[in-house]
Amino acid sequence: MNFDQLFKQISPEELSDNVFTLVGKDLYVITAGKEDQSNSMTGSGGGMGLLFKIPTTWCILRSDRYTLEMIKKEQTYTMSYFPNEYKEQMLFLGSKSGRNTEKMKEVELTPVQTPSGDISFREARLIIECRLTQITTPNPNDFYTQETKDYINKAYKEVSDYRNYIFGEITHLWVKK
Ligand SMILES: Cc1cc2nc3c(=O)[nH]c(=O)nc-3n(C[C@H](O)[C@H](O)[C@H](O)COP(=O)(O)O)c2cc1C
Repeated sequence: MNFDQLFKQISPEELSDNVFTLVGKDLYVITAGKEDQSNSMTGSGGGMGLLFKIPTTWCILRSDRYTLEMIKKEQTYTMSYFPNEYKEQMLFLGSKSGRNTEKMKEVELTPVQTPSGDISFREARLIIECRLTQITTPNPNDFYTQETKDYINKAYKEVSDYRNYIFGEITHLWVKK
């Protein structure tokens, strides 16, 4: 089955999932790259909404993630959500880096190419295709509550630990048919 037989496009307004469940309880897989070489990692947290009137997702990635390096290079990526039965595979993609392992060959998920040439997986139930619009590294001085100050100071031990906020314009939303 090709992509169009598996997925149908919806508009951001048609998304019926609760956002807090999507980014909180559900995990997602972020994938950057093209058919010849792609890399995926597990993500959680972040959100989605309107940024400068544009439907946008945001996620928080540590600056040493190989997936982030690929996002910067390709400037497009997918965020894929899966039925619960694939949780183990999702966690696997978060267990080691694709920079120095063959995890993309080992993972038991089947890559699929969107019509735009981005990569997701056949098993996904929801795919959000994004175009990179902004990467921001928050300044520790910009935090106001003690909890967030503590979090960011703990996170900023080394440059490779810095958290980057990744904003991406939603170019396509696909749900399983
Ligand atoms: C449940 C779970 C959630 C995660 N969420 C994030 C996240 O939001 N941001 C992040 O930078 N890393 C997160 N990680 C860690 C990355 O997925 C992990 O370091 C991964 O191996 C990075 O792969 P890469 O270097 O191939 O990109 C999470 C891992 C797990 C298991």
